[in-house]
Amino acid sequence: MFEIAPSILSADFTRLADEIRAVESGGASILHVDVMDGHFVPNITIGLPVVKSIRKATKLTIDCHLMIEDPGRYATAFVEAGADMVSVHVEADVHLQRTLTAIREAGGQAGIAINPATPLVALEEALPYADFVLLMSVNPGFGGQKYIPTSTDKVRRLKRMIDERGLNTRIEIDGGVDASNILEVVEAGVEIVVAGSAVYGRENAAEAVKELIDKGTVWV
Ligand code: DX5
Ligand code: ZN
Repeated sequence: MFEIAPSILSADFTRLADEIRAVESGGASILHVDVMDGHFVPNITIGLPVVKSIRKATKLTIDCHLMIEDPGRYATAFVEAGADMVSVHVEADVHLQRTLTAIREAGGQAGIAINPATPLVALEEALPYADFVLLMSVNPGFGGQKYIPTSTDKVRRLKRMIDERGLNTRIEIDGGVDASNILEVVEAGVEIVVAGSAVYGRENAAEAVKELIDKGTVWV
């Protein structure tokens, strides 16, 4: 089973509540919120006040993906603002185990995000402290980029690493996933599929979510 997590990065921010309702009606269960600081990635997006407002507008699980330097400074503030899941980049945090533990203690699900060129060994020691791993399948910073094909094999290797350790860490994939490749990533072991432009870049976001669920499901 997998869940669709539409990324509001590609939504119309002037109609955010409507855009959230649309994906909810299409069957999405998680809302992916991309937080960028203009340092870790070359783009600036949204922060705590917007997360607080979204919390009031929806019961969906809120998944904050922190693409910021020194994420340990802010991670628990996102849980307090209403995030259910918070991921921090392994490349940005020299005290990753501490940050993951703090997120859990604040009541959130803790995630490790990892860039396409960062080897999986970088997260090995921190894995027992994470509820999920967000595997980037594009270089973070922008929506609408092309899926990096080697990501599928990376998902398989991560799945093996998790299974060998007897953990139940969930795998989330983020970047360039659409109706053409969703089945491939789900079959490789992904349980949470982020989709930005494949949902909000379409005329009807609810229909787009339904189509992704359909295309990613193995019908027997
Ligand atoms: C990229 C973000 C993604 C982005 C995905 O840095 O982390 O969540 O919104 O957008 P698509 O699905 O269009 O690649
Ligand atoms: Zn993201």
